[in-house]
Amino acid sequence: MKRQLINVSNRLPVTLGEEIKKSSGGLVSALAGLEREDLALRWIGWPGKAVEVDQQSDIERRLRQEHHCMPVFLDQSTAHGHYDGLSNSSIWPLLHYMPTYFRYQPEWWPDFVAANRLFADKVQEVAGENDLVWVHDYQLMLLPRMLRERMPNLRVGFFWHTPFPSYEVFRCHPHREDLIEGVLGADRVGFHTFGYLRHFREAVVRLLGIESEITTIRQPTHQTQLAVCPIGIDARRLEETMKGESFAGHYQKLCETYRDQKIILSVERLDYTKGILRRLNAIDRFLSKAPDVDRLKFIFVSVPSREGVEQYQELRQEVSRRIGQINGRHATLNNSPIHFIHGTVEFEQLCALYARSDVGLVTPLIDGMNLVAKEYVAAQSEPGRVGTLILSEFAGAAEELFNALVVNPYDPGAVADAIGMALAMDAREKADRMAPMRNRVMRMDARAWARAFVDDLAAIEPAVEPARKIEAAIDRVKEAMNGGGRLAMFLDYDGTLREIERQPSAAVPTAEIRELLERLAAMRKVDLTIISGRSEEDLSAFVGRLPVRLIAEHGASIRAAGGRSWERLDRNISTAWKEQILRLLQLYEQSTPGSRIENKRTSLVWHYRNADPEFGAWKAGHLASELAALLANDPVHIRHGRKIVEVTPSGIHKGSAIVHAIGEVRYELILCAGDDQTDESMFRLGLENLLSIKVGDRQTSAQYRLPTPAAFRAFLRRCIGDLSINPAD
Ligand code: UDP
Ligand code: G6P
Repeated sequence: MKRQLINVSNRLPVTLGEEIKKSSGGLVSALAGLEREDLALRWIGWPGKAVEVDQQSDIERRLRQEHHCMPVFLDQSTAHGHYDGLSNSSIWPLLHYMPTYFRYQPEWWPDFVAANRLFADKVQEVAGENDLVWVHDYQLMLLPRMLRERMPNLRVGFFWHTPFPSYEVFRCHPHREDLIEGVLGADRVGFHTFGYLRHFREAVVRLLGIESEITTIRQPTHQTQLAVCPIGIDARRLEETMKGESFAGHYQKLCETYRDQKIILSVERLDYTKGILRRLNAIDRFLSKAPDVDRLKFIFVSVPSREGVEQYQELRQEVSRRIGQINGRHATLNNSPIHFIHGTVEFEQLCALYARSDVGLVTPLIDGMNLVAKEYVAAQSEPGRVGTLILSEFAGAAEELFNALVVNPYDPGAVADAIGMALAMDAREKADRMAPMRNRVMRMDARAWARAFVDDLAAIEPAVEPARKIEAAIDRVKEAMNGGGRLAMFLDYDGTLREIERQPSAAVPTAEIRELLERLAAMRKVDLTIISGRSEEDLSAFVGRLPVRLIAEHGASIRAAGGRSWERLDRNISTAWKEQILRLLQLYEQSTPGSRIENKRTSLVWHYRNADPEFGAWKAGHLASELAALLANDPVHIRHGRKIVEVTPSGIHKGSAIVHAIGEVRYELILCAGDDQTDESMFRLGLENLLSIKVGDRQTSAQYRLPTPAAFRAFLRRCIGDLSINPAD
């Protein structure tokens, strides 16, 4: 069977009416171009309005058969909470740096979750494990995570069609963590510009505390790759349209109607991000100084948008009022300078408008990409009749179309001047500016964009660690338990048995962990040791009452099961360096808000988990190098671990503590488990009968790997015969 490419967007590319009409936007053609021998294309989306329950199955059948579309039906109230509410009143304004437009009602959230869940149900109904799923835009931010939980092997891509703002703005959203976590279910996340990618990554680091590389976000179950891939236009459709008769007719008509006039064209959805009111101010200013208003026509095509949202209704009224005012002020007996169309125009007509207009005036206050700017450029195909593009520097498109007259849309004087410059520009300069832009836009079109994204998505290996491998480890433990010999377990605590907390003191064992350790400790043939970098005090307080052996400070001291006193393994080790290093760490503590020092018996630790993540990591790098220089001749080990920099005497490590603890005892199996660099000394012991498990995603020499502490606990339960949880979950 053919592999499916399942494209999921909030809106299906159809309009429901008497007939079902397929829309022909860039995305539709881009993906149609991908339909190859080996890829079957499916669309999943909301049909754009509520459909009566008794009509749903008929519409669904027709959509499937005629258009390969699978509708997600939402009742009126869910659609309202999801679309008008959470998506377009809360997320959209924040993505566009406009918190003053932000509205939030808690009751929208369940609708948003429910709608995303219905999308997930539909994908699950259609998708096979080997298929590719491509999710589009902010309305479906929760969907990738839901899909990963339900179908871990599915390859899921996500594309942002909007900007992604600075963390300082996105953090206003009451559900910011859920939203970002939702997107991180994807294997690949695409952005129009590096700026958006960088902001998204920053939100991940700051909101979720995940340490990440620039384009790779490692998570326990998979990695999310971030990529820059600016969307293009449907260049082929535009070119073909401009060869057609209908286009020629419209073009001719425009030439006649505006025979002696220069046309300055703006096309957009009526949205506050598009900068319409500020543009009108600039036009007002320009007209006040224009020598011959009769020779100018500003055409606005304003496509009605999101009319159920209050801010859009208000904008519409305000735009009409302002246009009336400006036309009143500057009209002559022969001409009113602004022609306002509140509606859509046919694509043939739109292309004719692009081609005939002398200036394309595109001045959004912010825009993910802005395809209109690219379409305007593409339509300037006749060498003798080339227009000029004025483009806001805040549109994603400005990164590619830098030969335009790039303006700051917040500066009415600059926009007015640019209009004057564009109208006065000589033909040679217009052509010189337009040619390289057109070349790029025609080559890097929607098809090229979609192909690149989908090919990269298809190349990603399925993410999950094969569950089969861990089954072999369970069998080894069970066999050892059923055999005649003894079994040793050396288990690290933080990050292995217990999830990491922001405050280390908060990571006390949960009831579940205590019960699990008690059961293990009660097993006659098992010698259980908790082995940790924590101090003797911490370990005693956390698990001291259990009949288990404790090893503290990475192996500096050891306490027998049920014992009271600690045996020090560091007797001959010097800690003379501590005094000087403590003073240095105090300087770092002082200059890095949120960081703190932990002074253990044999070691010193600088913790920066609660500091600004980027500043903290940067200071930690400096500290580690400074320590390396200062302590070059001392017998110490400097470790830059998980949000810590630690100095420990070099003779001490978990591996040697284990050798000491085992002594002469012969074990059938020695199980070691840990999550960070200090645990590698256990994994590398080279002991016979060693079974080593790494918890988490970093490099390791352990034989097996489990993604999270929860999965490790489930593993232990399976080993002792509790079948209620699967470690692969
Ligand atoms: N468009 C349209 N009909 C119209 C006016 C515009 O289909 O009457 C199309 C236009 O061709 C472009 C899209 O709407 O492809 C607008 O995309 P853009 O990226 O500029 O803005 P968005 O609406 O996505 O914010
Ligand atoms: C922007 C968004 C899209 C959205 C489109 C039209 O381009 O990024 O996700 O589909 O606007 O908005 P609408 O609310 O009509 O779907």
